[in-house]
Amino acid sequence: MLGLDKVATALVAPGKGILAADESIATMSKRLETAGVTPSADTRRDYRQLLLTTPGLDSWVSGIILCDETLGQDLSDGTPFGEAATALGIMAGIKVDKGVTSLPFSDGGFVTEGLDGLRGRLDAYRERGAVFAKWRAVLNPASLHWRTVHANAHALARYAALCQAAGIVPIVEPEVLMDGSHGIAVCQAATTTVLAAVFGELDAMGVDPRGIVLKPNMIISGTESEDQARPAEVARDTLQVLTATVPPAVPGIAFLSGGQSNEQACANLAAINAQAAAGGTPPWRLTFSFGRALVSDALRAWHGVAASAADAQDKLAANCRRASEASKGPVTAAVGA
Ligand code: G3H
Repeated sequence: MLGLDKVATALVAPGKGILAADESIATMSKRLETAGVTPSADTRRDYRQLLLTTPGLDSWVSGIILCDETLGQDLSDGTPFGEAATALGIMAGIKVDKGVTSLPFSDGGFVTEGLDGLRGRLDAYRERGAVFAKWRAVLNPASLHWRTVHANAHALARYAALCQAAGIVPIVEPEVLMDGSHGIAVCQAATTTVLAAVFGELDAMGVDPRGIVLKPNMIISGTESEDQARPAEVARDTLQVLTATVPPAVPGIAFLSGGQSNEQACANLAAINAQAAAGGTPPWRLTFSFGRALVSDALRAWHGVAASAADAQDKLAANCRRASEASKGPVTAAVGA
């Protein structure tokens, strides 16, 4: 295991979660433009530097996921990002997938690419300080085809096996999208199918469940559904799915936010932890690996202006603190504050 279990357990340590700051160059550039910042390698670097150097970040965040561009960049003082993260007490992670492409004969499904050459890239990322990695599969619950499920589960397992062989903890992220008008039952059925297939493939590829972190969606209603599930319902259905599909040996489950606001994602995470605790001690830690639910407020506040950096960092800190509280258990006064 080469200590993979220790890294995986540390990533989901009590009160801590993972900050996903690994948007691709194209996605990050669009988000910067929307926030009124001219996208460039420098502004993308400045923004990620702002996030990473937020005072107190290591109190709530165990690891930060970066993209290839950022892991190859230096902070303005010349320190490489990987080294800077480690010095700040935050583990560096790297998104290693190369995005999605359409999968033939699957009713419009997608498969995530990036396995070719991955072994060599992992060695290079480890040298730059990465101790964990991420691969995201994307599945549409309203048109889930078995070929899409199979192809993505297989790719996630091949990726996870390569990571463990390279001494890197894989974050396994099969995201069932929340876009659409489907109800929560559709999300529940699709996520059960997907997670069962993923853990079947992980086992087939020899992946040690003690050395991974699962990053799933919560079980929630589609964004445009008229019947929006409340946190208690989200928690009940999410725990049912996880109990049915995730081996107890997995140390932790770090949910993606999927487009939920910070308040919504934290209220749901707190309810999940409260219900899990009410049923006894769950086998896995239940925490966050949010992207947008942590960073969107900070990006809006920043405007690419140095004078706004402290305000942006305050907003990130508030969102991380709330997520950390939600990962500990019942909704606290901080949630929704
Ligand atoms: O791959 C997606 C990110 O790691 C999580 O982003 O929380 O905005 O869905 P999100």
